[in-house]
This record gives sequence, structure tokens and C-alpha cells, in this order.
Amino acid sequence: MDKFVITGGTALRGEIATGGAKNSALPALAAALLTEEPVTLKRIPKVRDIRTMQRLLVDIGSSVEVDGETVRLHTPRITSPEAPYELVKTMRASSLVLGPLVARCGRARVSLPGGCGIGARPINLHIFGLEQLGATIHQSHGYIEATAPDGLHGSVVNFDRITVTGTEDLMMAAVLARGETVLRNAAREPEVADLADLLTKMGARIEGAGTSVIRIQGVERLTGTEHEIIADRIEAGTFLVAGAITGGDVTVTGCIPEHVGALVAKLQQAGASVTQPGDTALRVRASGRLRSVDVTTEEYPGFATDLQAQYMALMTQAEGIAIIVETIFENRFMHAQELARMGANIRLDGRQAIVAGPRELTGAGVIASDLRASASLVLAALVARGDTVIDRVYHIDRGYEKIETKLAQAGARIRRVE
Ligand code: EPZ
Repeated sequence: MDKFVITGGTALRGEIATGGAKNSALPALAAALLTEEPVTLKRIPKVRDIRTMQRLLVDIGSSVEVDGETVRLHTPRITSPEAPYELVKTMRASSLVLGPLVARCGRARVSLPGGCGIGARPINLHIFGLEQLGATIHQSHGYIEATAPDGLHGSVVNFDRITVTGTEDLMMAAVLARGETVLRNAAREPEVADLADLLTKMGARIEGAGTSVIRIQGVERLTGTEHEIIADRIEAGTFLVAGAITGGDVTVTGCIPEHVGALVAKLQQAGASVTQPGDTALRVRASGRLRSVDVTTEEYPGFATDLQAQYMALMTQAEGIAIIVETIFENRFMHAQELARMGANIRLDGRQAIVAGPRELTGAGVIASDLRASASLVLAALVARGDTVIDRVYHIDRGYEKIETKLAQAGARIRRVE
């Protein structure tokens, strides 16, 4: 298993480029199942989760051609409307094929995702929504089997809690359903709006994507198209924190500033300078000691849960006490223990983490646990005194493309060890 060896103490300087958004690419790849015509997607990041999804689509019956960051998918026929446990257990977002498969061929057999490090991750809302659209769902042997022999029909779906992939799954089911579907309390994440842009280019009729009420008029069929994925706001946010935690001067390019608005506000409240040198760039500078600032994670446009771990690392270096409240997932503080091993002063109390700073961090051997917790350890290592060895970096590779190369270009002393 690969490791990262990081020598802390260097202030990062220079530009770091943002890639395409993993969490936009995953539903976009699944959306290609909705048409028998070719779909070309651009700016697809070369990360593990994307490769897993591509493998799943090939098993389902798609041809997938990868040329750099461009992926060309063609699914003339669905040969196996299944998402097997072997794949789903490594990537819960495989449930994104559920809606497209039922919409395209009237049936799907998808393994229940099972939990992951950060929480139970049920898909009951995906199932509830599909039943509202007329699917019949059975659960057995760890799989759900959905059938809709007469096709799906429009309906009003009230989500009792906001779910990003649930909204995406149901939007993809509804675009070929008979009549109008209304999704209420829908997720407003930019990745939902990006998926709607793709589906609209394919001939879907969708209004309100990006707001909490999405209206979809079903159509007979969808056509192929070409679409470029939006920038990854979580990668961009991670690099902004890297600039701040090292007391450096980093310009993150190729990003969408408004998608990281909540993080920028917190960095500015903490005393960092964050400016926008261009439409797709953000520059962070932090010279003196930052102040501790509380944060509560919320659905978009609130502070992203996927940036909570990175922010916690930053707050270990800030002056004061920061209360971090995680409202989205029930177990998303696993990075706290590892940060504490590096010297951080963090107390956990249910959904709250109390971070007292500043505390000097020292390099240590640590283990990555989930994707964003791993990013948090990288950030801590960049400011720790001495060397840090991070094991199981495959967690990082799930969602960050060559993070060590990008950080090294800004001066980080980081290398991957096979
Ligand atoms: C998406 O996961 C992202 N993944 C996650 O990013 C992100 O953390 C999450 O949204 C929240 O923003 C992708 O987009 C591929 P949810 P998702 O459904 O859709 C509960 C990363 O690091 N829930 O919005 O699975 C659920 O347990 C990953 O890139 C139900 O109870 O998240 C959670 O507590 C990690 N029933 C809350 O809702 C359901 O049917 C939000 O989950 C679905 C969700």
C-alpha cells in the first residue's frame, strides 16, 4: 500500500490547479445509461471512484473509452442491470445507477451499500422516491431489486431530509417517467445543478435544479451529448486550507469561487486574506496567527461537511477555541484522533469537536481512514515539525488526483512511497 512521507514547515507559494468534480462526474457517468446514444464527458478526474464507476458501467453494458480527462460512453443496450456487492462495497455512490437503470430498462438489482467510515449511509430515501414514481422494490440477500414493468410515472416526492445522491438518483429516474415529477426539499449542491445541465443537453425538461424544488417533465427518450464537468469545490477548498495552514500565499485556479463561499467566509473571519484575482481563481494569504472560528456543517450553500476535516486541521493552529459541529454524518470525526497523535488538542462530544489552539504539531506515523479525513492529515503534516508518514493513501486517491504532485508544485515537501 502506498504511503505519503511529508516534511512539514514550508509555507506553500504559487498556483494549484483544480480538477473536475468527482461528485459531479459520478452522477454524470450514470446518466449516460439513460440513452442509447454516445455521451462524451470532459474534465473527468482520474481518481479511483471514477474508475470504479466506469468498471460498473462496463459490467452493465456500456462501452467506455477514456482519453485523458475525456470519457466517451455508449450504451446501446443494457445487458446486466446490476450493481454487484463487490463494487458497491468499495463505492457507495454506485447506487446512482439505480434510477437510470429503472428508467431505461424497467428493472435494477443493486447491492445495498453497507456502511462506511463516516456513517450508516442508508439509501432509504432513494428507494422511497422510486416507489413514489411507481417502482416496486424488494430487498433480499443484501440487494434491492426494483422493477417498473409499465415504466415510471411522475409524482411529488417529499424528501424528509436532504440527500445529494438521492436527489440525483430521482432526477435521473424522473426524466423518462410519464408526466411531471416534483422533488421537494431537494439538495441544492452545485453537482445537482451540473447533472441537470447535462440531462437538459440530452433533451430532458428540468426546472429549479440548484433550488430545493425541482420540476421534471418526463420525455420519451434522451439523446447523446457532450458536457464538461464543473470544477471540484472540495479539492479547491482543500488547497485553500493548505495555503492558510502553512502561512503561505496560494492561488487556486480553475475553480468556481461562489461554490466555496462558506469556507472563504470562515478563512476571512479567522484572519486570512482571501481575494479573487479572476473569475475562476481564489488567492489565500495567511502570515500571522489565525483566530479560532466556530463552524457548523450544513447542506449547500452552508459549510460543506466534506471540508470539515480539513478545517479542523487548520483550527489546531489557530488562537483560541473552535467548536466544530458536524450535522450531516454521525461519525465524521475519525481524523480527530490522528490529529491528536500529532499533538492537536481536540475534545469530542457527540456531534461537536472542541479544538483548542494553537498547538505545535509534530510529525508521526498516521493512518488514513476516509477520503476527507486523509486530506486533513496531509494538511496537518504540512505544518507539523518533522516527518509524517501517512499510510493507506488509497483513501486519498479515491477523490484527489495526484494531490502530492499538485502540493509539491507549490513547494510542499511530500512524496509517495510505494
Ligand atoms: C454525497 O453523499 C457526497 N458523495 C458526499 O461526498 C457528501 O459528503 C454528501 O453528499 C453530503 O454532502 C457524492 O456526491 C458521490 P447524502 P450522499 O445522501 O449523497 C442521510 C466525498 O467525500 N441519508 O446527502 O451519500 C445520510 O446518511 C463524499 O466525496 C439517509 O438517511 O450523502 C447522511 O446522514 C463523502 N437516507 C445524510 O442523509 C438516504 O436515503 C446526507 O447524505 C440518503 C441519505
